[in-house]
Amino acid sequence: MSENGKSFGFTGKLGFVLATAGSAVGLGNLWRFPYLAEQYGGGAFILIYVILAITFGFTLMIAEVTIGRKTGKSCLEAFGSIDKKWKWVGWLAALVPAIIVPYYCVIGGWVTKYFVEYATGNGSEVNTSFFLGFMTCDLPGLFDNPVVWFIIFTIMVAAVVIVGVDKGIERVSKILMPLLLILLIITTIFALSMDGAMDGLSYYLVPKVEDISAGTFLGAVGQLFYSMSLAMGITITYGAYMKKDVDIEKSVRSVSLIDTGVALLAGLMIVPAVIAIGEPGNKGVGLMFMTLPKVFEAMPAGEFVAALFFLLVIFAALTSAISLMETLVYVLMDKAKMQRIPASILVFVFTIALGLLSCLGFGPLGDVFLLKEGMTFLDFFDFISNSILMPIVAALTCLFIGFVVGPKFITDEVESSGSFKSKKMFIVLVKWICPIALVLILLTGLLDFFDIFKI
Ligand code: PFF
Repeated sequence: MSENGKSFGFTGKLGFVLATAGSAVGLGNLWRFPYLAEQYGGGAFILIYVILAITFGFTLMIAEVTIGRKTGKSCLEAFGSIDKKWKWVGWLAALVPAIIVPYYCVIGGWVTKYFVEYATGNGSEVNTSFFLGFMTCDLPGLFDNPVVWFIIFTIMVAAVVIVGVDKGIERVSKILMPLLLILLIITTIFALSMDGAMDGLSYYLVPKVEDISAGTFLGAVGQLFYSMSLAMGITITYGAYMKKDVDIEKSVRSVSLIDTGVALLAGLMIVPAVIAIGEPGNKGVGLMFMTLPKVFEAMPAGEFVAALFFLLVIFAALTSAISLMETLVYVLMDKAKMQRIPASILVFVFTIALGLLSCLGFGPLGDVFLLKEGMTFLDFFDFISNSILMPIVAALTCLFIGFVVGPKFITDEVESSGSFKSKKMFIVLVKWICPIALVLILLTGLLDFFDIFKI
C-alpha cells in the first residue's frame, strides 16, 4: 500500500504471487505450524490442515482476491462499496492485524536474539534451559531480556514502515526467500537423519483417528487463515493491486502451494526431531526454540548454519510484520487523516504496550491467566484472533458472497481473465459448506476449549 492508495500495482502474475507469498510465508509457517502440529497429534493435524487448505483456504483466497480486484478497494471500503450494511465486516477484519502484530513482534524478538547468539559464537550456550530462562525474563543481563529484543524488532519494523522502504525489502526478500527454502530443505534432511527421527516421522505423517478432536479442527482452521493471511482483509488489498488480466485461479493456487509447502517442510524439520531428541510433549510456543538448537548442535558447521537460518527467519518475519503494521498505519492515515509519521508512532506505541503483556506473560506476569488455566497473554491474543475472529470473518465473507452479492459476482470476475476450473466446487463451498462448517467448527471448538463438551 502507499500514501495515495493505488500508486502501484503488481506487474503480472509473478509479481502478485511473489508479493502475496512474501506476506503469507512468515512466523506462521516456521514457528506456529510446527508447534500446533506437535500439539494436535501430528499426522491427524496435517491431514485436516491439508484438506482445509485445498478447500476452505483456496475458496476464501479466491473470494478475497476477487473482491479486491473487482472493487479496487482495501478491505475497509470493499465490503461497504458493495453493500453499505456489510461495511462493518471490513472493520472487523481490520481488527485482526491489530491483535496479531504486537505478539508477532515478541516472537520476532526471540528469533532476533537467537540469530545474535549464533552469529556471535555463543551458539553452544543456546539450549532448552537457556530458552526457558530467557522467555521467563530470568537471565540477569540486559541483552538477555526478551523485552529488549521485542523492542529492537519492533523498532526495525516501524522504521521500515516510517521510511517506506518496504519495496527495497521486498526486493531483497525475493532473493532471501528462495535461500530460506534451500536452508530449510538442508536442515530438514539433516534433522531426519538423526537417530530416532523415523519414529517421529511416522508421528508427523500418519494420522491417528483418536488424535482428532473438535479442537484439532479449530486449531487447523485458525492456522490456515493465519498462515495464508486470510480473514484479515490483507488479501483483499493485494487483490486490489492485481492487474485485470492476471489469472486469479492459477495465481491463488501458486500462493497456497508455496505457503502450505513451506509450512509442511518446517513441520518436517522440527516435529520428528523433537521425538528423535527424546523430548516430546506439549512444548507450545517454545518448540522451535528448544528443538532446533539440538539439531544444529549435531550438524557439521551447525553454528554457522544456525546463524544463517535465523537471519532468514528474521527476514521472513520482518516482511510479514511490516505488512501487518502497514495495514494499521494505513487505516489511521486513510480514516483519521493522520500523517504517516504520527500514525506510525501511534501504532508503534500501541504495539509496544500490547506486546509487553505478551512478552512479560511468561515471566513477571506468569501468574495471570486469561479465559482458562495456563492461558498466557500471548496465548490469549493468539486465540482471540485466530480461533474466534478469523473463523467469524471467514464465515461472514462466505455468506456475503453466497447470499448477498451471489457467487456470480466472483465467478464473472475470475472468468474475465482466465478459465475457472473449480467454479462448481467454489460455488458449493462458498455458499454452503464453508459457512456451515465454519460455524460448527467455531462452536464445537469453543465447547472443547472450555472443556464443556469433548468429541
Ligand atoms: N501469514 C503470516 C505468517 O504466516 O506468518 C502472518 C501474516 C503476515 C498475516 C502478514 C497477515 C499479514 F499481512
